[in-house]
Amino acid sequence: MRKPLATLALLASLSCLAGPAAQAPAPDMAAVPASIRLAAQEIAAELAGLCPLAPAGDTAAYNACRQGLFGDSALRSHLPPVLIWGRQSKAPGATLRQTSLTQFAPDVWTSLYAPLFMFNGRHTVEWVPEEKLFLVRLETAFRNRLAPGQFPYPFWHDEAKWSMYENANGFMLWMAPDTGKIRAAQFTDRAPNAMLQSVQPVQHAKYEGPWLWTDEKGNTQPAVTLFDGIYRPDNPYIKAIDRQYRDLAVQMRESQCSSCHVPTNPDKISRLVLLSTPAHAAGEIDRLIKSVKEDRMPMDEFRLSYALSADNKKWLLESAEAFRTTVQAAQAWETQAARKPSTQTLSSNQRAQVTK
Ligand code: HEC
Repeated sequence: MRKPLATLALLASLSCLAGPAAQAPAPDMAAVPASIRLAAQEIAAELAGLCPLAPAGDTAAYNACRQGLFGDSALRSHLPPVLIWGRQSKAPGATLRQTSLTQFAPDVWTSLYAPLFMFNGRHTVEWVPEEKLFLVRLETAFRNRLAPGQFPYPFWHDEAKWSMYENANGFMLWMAPDTGKIRAAQFTDRAPNAMLQSVQPVQHAKYEGPWLWTDEKGNTQPAVTLFDGIYRPDNPYIKAIDRQYRDLAVQMRESQCSSCHVPTNPDKISRLVLLSTPAHAAGEIDRLIKSVKEDRMPMDEFRLSYALSADNKKWLLESAEAFRTTVQAAQAWETQAARKPSTQTLSSNQRAQVTK
């Protein structure tokens, strides 16, 4: 949303950080077109400018990074309508096709996932013939010491997943050669570069849900999934989003959606869609409504679609539509609020949105 003017200066000054590794003509580097190299450089400089190395539990640094990447960032402008994201496979040489990844709406990923990482701007670009994609490798470190409610869900439900997140040293963007769009993004603890800072591991108790909970102060957690740190605290729609998501979640349980679309991925879906928090459901709400209307969802244990009973379908769609209306009202309110102080401070993109 609010983007500091300093970003531009940072973009210019940080691009030199790409360093010799990025410029040196590696075997395939000569074949990297200027448009891809520039896009990679712009994204790397933006990430280093908005999300620089900081202590791994620094919530203010995390929120500054989230606010910078959400909205009209360079990273956001290179994302497709659906991004696939996840861990690099443990299996050596596994292709993207063979790797289980999760589908994300761009704003969900730029506000909840990418900001969990910190960057120094150093990156390389290479052509990967097996994928027919350019691979931008960015050096990274992970914010493993944030409070549990600052993660989109407790990643430690899976020990191997948490360990790779904690020890991540590489952030990988897979770019299409023709459009420069990022088709897939991954993180890894096996990047060729050294760790950027030492990791103090955090031991969490085994966790198996719920994916939305209420803390001792009565607040819904994870707070970040209710747009905490992204929307203004006085956004009048946040409480209603919470309540209506909970109504929707009841209908999704009733209609079996929650037996597949949760972080534990019980059905081992290779392109998982998460619906287990307000932010995740908000990102998928149009596809959710469409797939239920068309009787493509839910699916049975053989992955065959079946139609819900007329009652269940009606209740699920009613709660989904109520939720969508409120999510849209919350977004519109934010746009209005951003307009108030001074239109001059808005970026051209935001101006385009508010004058629509
Ligand atoms: C048996 C497991 C299963 C159940 C139950 C299930 N789904 Fe799905 N869902 C899938 C699979 C598999 C995909 C396909 C993922 C992919 O694109 O590869 C999918 C995709 C989706 C998508 C995104 C793709 C699209 O079709 O637009 C949405 C939204 C969705 N499901 C919503 C729901 C809802 C709502 C329910 C409950 C009414 C539900 N699902 C129940 C397995 C399930």
